[in-house]
Order: sequence, then structure tokens, then C-alpha cells
Amino acid sequence: MFAVFAAEPNPDDPIASLTVGERPEPEVPDGFIAVSVRAASLNMHDLWTLRGVGIKPEQFPMILGCDGAGVTEDGTEVVLHSVITSPGWVGDETLDPKRTLLTEKHQGTLAETVVVPARNVLPKPAGLSFAEAACMGTAWLTAYRMLFTQSGLRPGQTILVQGASGGVSTALIQLGTAAGFRVWVTGRSEEKRALAEGLGAHATFASGERLPERVDGVFETVGKATWAHSMRAVKPGGVIVVSGSTSGPDPSADLQRLFFLQLRVIGSTMGTRDELADLLRFCETTGVRPTIGAELPMADAEQGFRDMLDGATAGKIVFTR
Ligand SMILES: NC(=O)c1ccc[n+]([C@@H]2O[C@H](COP(=O)([O-])OP(=O)(O)OC[C@H]3O[C@@H](n4cnc5c(N)ncnc54)[C@H](OP(=O)(O)O)[C@@H]3O)[C@@H](O)[C@H]2O)c1
Repeated sequence: MFAVFAAEPNPDDPIASLTVGERPEPEVPDGFIAVSVRAASLNMHDLWTLRGVGIKPEQFPMILGCDGAGVTEDGTEVVLHSVITSPGWVGDETLDPKRTLLTEKHQGTLAETVVVPARNVLPKPAGLSFAEAACMGTAWLTAYRMLFTQSGLRPGQTILVQGASGGVSTALIQLGTAAGFRVWVTGRSEEKRALAEGLGAHATFASGERLPERVDGVFETVGKATWAHSMRAVKPGGVIVVSGSTSGPDPSADLQRLFFLQLRVIGSTMGTRDELADLLRFCETTGVRPTIGAELPMADAEQGFRDMLDGATAGKIVFTR
């Protein structure tokens, strides 16, 4: 079948391993379900996979794509939940030490068909297009859990989102404003800050710029490049929620500031099946829809990957077929 896959790990030149071609038709084990993919979105995770980060070398070749939306054999339109637990696991799927995301062990969604455990599909709300629904399973789910499950913050409080135009960043801006937070955003260029303002951000700042006042919470996916700013930006007793470190981990965590200001730093990864169901309902009831900066045919996936590598994002990059 047609698929977009990582041929082998390539730490220095991830695009060189990106292959648009054919992979064998998947088998459907007991308890699994085949989904004919209509749309899948690109996540930074796919670039990590091409680099060989978070995946064992023997897992290659690996079909890329952590999330998606499609149609099952009986015609049901579905959204995929990408967190796959070990057999018998009950409770919060993100806490299973043996959990994997699609593309870590099981083949991903950038293909004609993806095969997932039956419990990893949810009904697609009719009001969401396949492209919009394809954004939900990774970036939007991660933002939802950071904001509503992990932060402990209340509507009306002020949050800072580090990064303006990325998948998780745009989701945080849109979910945060819809839920009644005062949302401040840093962006690396005038264009990116304008995008955030268009999405409802109440104020935007250049990366690292001094804020008019400290915020209740900071939402971090950038890591080393913004960490020191995040630590300075948060009020005593405030919270920093972290789900990524795109620019690298920061070995100088500023521990003195951490304990002296009694800050809370909370890690967050993906989200549960129930959180995904709640996110879908949130979008249905509020009318919030993911910002899609580029929608490309799967066959042109390389363009989307290059744009993400170059930081040329304006919301989610979605591939359709
Ligand atoms: N833990 C999880 O479950 C989980 C889930 C999803 C994503 N993540 C992680 O979250 C990160 C973002 O993923 P994504 O898919 O949203 O990627 P993306 O769409 O490429 O977005 C990248 C964002 O990072 C910002 N950024 C990158 N380098 C920067 C720098 N040097 N200085 C300031 N800002 C910088 C960009 O800001 P501008 O807009 O200003 O360019 C942009 O907003 C990745 O590291 C990913 O692995 C983790």
C-alpha cells in the first residue's frame, strides 16, 4: 500500500530518510481494527523518528504519522487515539510505563491504512472535517492535558505560551482563549506574533522579551532556548507545564529560583482516551477548530516535513489522501 515512512534512522539529515513509496498491506490481529486514513497531521515527533530518537533501530522501516482520522470497514468515521497501552493496562494510558505512541512500535498513519487496537478509535464529530480531526490526537490532546488537567490554573488567570506558530502552541492559544484565560504568547518573528494575535492572544512578545508582569503559568515545549525566560516569567507559587524541548534540554534548571519562589514544574505527555473524548466535545460545543497552516496531499509530504524542520509553521501541517 501507499505509505510515507522512515527508511532508517538519520540523526544529521532526517529528510534523507523520508521515503514516499510502498509498504506491505498490514495484517489485522485479534482486537485490532483497520482504519482507511483520510487525513493525518505532522508532529515534531515524526522528525524525531526520522532522526532515530525514541525508537529502536530494529523498528525501521517505520510508517510515520502519530495521529489521524479515517473510516473503519463498517463506514464509521473515527479519530485515532495514539497512546497504545500494554495488554491488560487499566487507568490513565499515559502512565503505563510500557505505553507506546503510534510510530514507536506500531506503524503510523501516513498510509492508506493504519491498524490500531479497537479501543484506540473514537467517533469523529460530524462538525469536524477529517483534516481538523486529524490534528486532535497528538498536538491538541497534549495542549488540552497541559492546560486543563495538569496546570491547576483557573479561567481568568494569565498564561504565557512559549512559541506562537507550532502545533501545540496554536492549540494552547486557541483552547486557552476559548476557556477564558488571559493568553500571552512569545513568537520568533512579527509574522508569527501576528498569527497568535489573530488566534485571540491578548498580548504577544518577542522571544525572551521582558513581560509587563509575571504570569500564573507558563506552557513550555521549546526547552533550552526559552527556559530561562519561562523561569523569570512565572509568579511566586506559579506553574510551568512542560511537554517538549524542541531546542534541547536545559541542564541549568535554575534550582534556586525553583525552590525560593516555590514554583511547580509539571511534565505532561499526550493525554488519555477520555481526555481526547472531552477535547472533541470541547471543540464541538465551543466551535473552536484547529488552525491548519498547510494542507498537502500525502504524496507531497516532504514539503511539509521541510517546512517544520525550517520552523515555517502557521498552525498544523496536515496531509490528506
Ligand atoms: N510530550 C508530548 O506528548 C508531546 C506531544 C506533542 C509535542 N511534543 C513536543 O512539543 C514540541 C513542539 O511540537 P510541535 O509538533 O508543536 O512542533 P512545531 O509545530 O514545529 O512547533 C514548534 C514551536 O516551537 C517554537 N520554537 C522552536 N524553536 C524555537 C526557538 N529556538 N526559540 C523559540 N521558539 C522556538 C516555535 O515558535 P515560533 O512560532 O515562534 O516559531 C513553534 O511554536 C516538540 O518538541 C514535540 O516533540 C510533545
